[in-house]
Amino acid sequence: ERSQPDAHAINPEAAHSGISKGLTNYGDRGFSLFLRKAFIKGAGYTDQALERPVIGIASTGSAYNPCHGNMPRLLEAVKRGVLMAGGLPMDFPTISLHESFSQPTSMYLRNLMSMDTEEMLRAQPMDAVVLIGGCDKTVPAQLMGAASAGLPAVQLVTGSMLTGSHRGERVGACTDCRRYWGKFRADEIGAEEVADVNTQLVASVGTCSVAGTASTMACIAEALGMSVPGGASPPAVTADRIRVAERTGTVAVQMARTGLTIDKILTPEAFENAVRVLLAMGGSTNAIVHLAAIAGRLGYTLDLKALDAMSRDTPVLLDLKPSGDHYMEDFHAAGGMATLLRELKPLLHLDALTVTGRTLGEELEAAGPGFAQHVVRSRDNPIFPQGGIAVLYGNLAPEGAIIKQSAADQRLMEHEGRAVVFENAQDLADRIDAPDLDVQADDILVLKNIGPKGAAMPEAGYLPIPKKLAAQGVKDMVRISDGRMSGTAFGTIVLHVTPEAAVGGPLAWVQNGDRIRLSVRERSIEWLVSPQELQARREARPVQAPTAARGYQHLFLKTVTQADKGADFDFLAAVENKGSVPRS
Ligand code: FES
Ligand code: MG
Repeated sequence: ERSQPDAHAINPEAAHSGISKGLTNYGDRGFSLFLRKAFIKGAGYTDQALERPVIGIASTGSAYNPCHGNMPRLLEAVKRGVLMAGGLPMDFPTISLHESFSQPTSMYLRNLMSMDTEEMLRAQPMDAVVLIGGCDKTVPAQLMGAASAGLPAVQLVTGSMLTGSHRGERVGACTDCRRYWGKFRADEIGAEEVADVNTQLVASVGTCSVAGTASTMACIAEALGMSVPGGASPPAVTADRIRVAERTGTVAVQMARTGLTIDKILTPEAFENAVRVLLAMGGSTNAIVHLAAIAGRLGYTLDLKALDAMSRDTPVLLDLKPSGDHYMEDFHAAGGMATLLRELKPLLHLDALTVTGRTLGEELEAAGPGFAQHVVRSRDNPIFPQGGIAVLYGNLAPEGAIIKQSAADQRLMEHEGRAVVFENAQDLADRIDAPDLDVQADDILVLKNIGPKGAAMPEAGYLPIPKKLAAQGVKDMVRISDGRMSGTAFGTIVLHVTPEAAVGGPLAWVQNGDRIRLSVRERSIEWLVSPQELQARREARPVQAPTAARGYQHLFLKTVTQADKGADFDFLAAVENKGSVPRS
């Protein structure tokens, strides 16, 4: 435990906060503060400015991150809000992760970003922090880091991108990216059209406009009470988004003054509200891994069985792609999270505290009555009668696997078939389109070694339909892996098989021609092989978990946990165990 002394001014009676907070270097506290002030004054600050509560602002703008392309305007507005409320805004950079520019996968770097965030919150003097993130891994990384650092913290998301228009059809990243690429692979459209649509898929800065991980985590952050009310839905380029940013700055000062630390907000009730929202929005399966990691930072274990039980009585209400038809800007026009939360009210803990210091229920009252709209359904007319995500167990996944049932083909949810196996992502790339691949539409595609240790858990679980089947019009097949998939993808896809192949999970020994049975109704994933046969295969081909000689990869491979623990580093979880969430 690092000490966080509160009063170290030249005069020890003086400031408990402001720029003099947390001073421990040099032994001589007076000199430390003298030096710190000298340097900050080099930037032109007066003593008066330095006596205010300091609000750190974690800025994640980067030329490599168009999802955060509105960062300059957000920073300006957050700072305005901080100043209006009497605080001193101090923005600072942390690393930034964009899905398409983080090789080998952004998931490899999420924990690094969380450590960067945690340590900079600890290292620099601040009384509260505004976390600005958006693209998939950034919000989880910031919440993980802030949960560990323990300060008052408020999440601001960058907001969704606008939709584009391609030959009269509305398009948005990245469900439509996949759809058009699928058409191209099936020779339904040519190279010219696929190049045309490429220009329209991402019509502005901001995060993906469907219920992908970014939108899911934005809604989850609000459901957790970590964002200002209405903070999830305004698109990146709107005035509403800028107003949310200003309000966030103001709220951060209030949190600094009242000492509203993150542990008071991220309670079991908050996590249960977040799980309800995840299920009711047909949100990204990735959020399960992220929620497990965030909860772990506070000493809670994510209980997948309890989550599945909640799924059985939480209908999907939010009509967003890929489970539904709309985009985030439509959700915003329909009232955003207040509309969804109002509909979910009987299933929520309304007494959970939010960053405003008021409860979720109080904020919902303040948001006023609802109105007629087409994006959030009522509970008696859901998109899907159960939650978007189901948890599967069986001899292929003793520690669990998940399926996004709301985005799956209903015909395939009870299915037995022959396994067509790919040993790793490269093997898949090499053979999936081979004309002589022995595969039929009712087979089950299995991909190994894309779990946390196998490949840093990339979003490669959305295996493409083999080209020869796609050309015959096959749109969906049962696909199984130990990896993740993008929240923007659609299909009967079993993910996060735990334990993963690379650490010797049963998946490692599945062979071509084995039979596998999926029953979403029974929540089971069974591999029809005898224990004797499995034992013989284990002995014939033992698995050695991968390691690396040096660097971040060494740390990653040595300490990354399985998907059910959030794929966090084992040493980053809280030491104290506070039980499991959701509570059953
Ligand atoms: Fe950033 Fe989709 S790529 S949110
Ligand atoms: Mg994504």
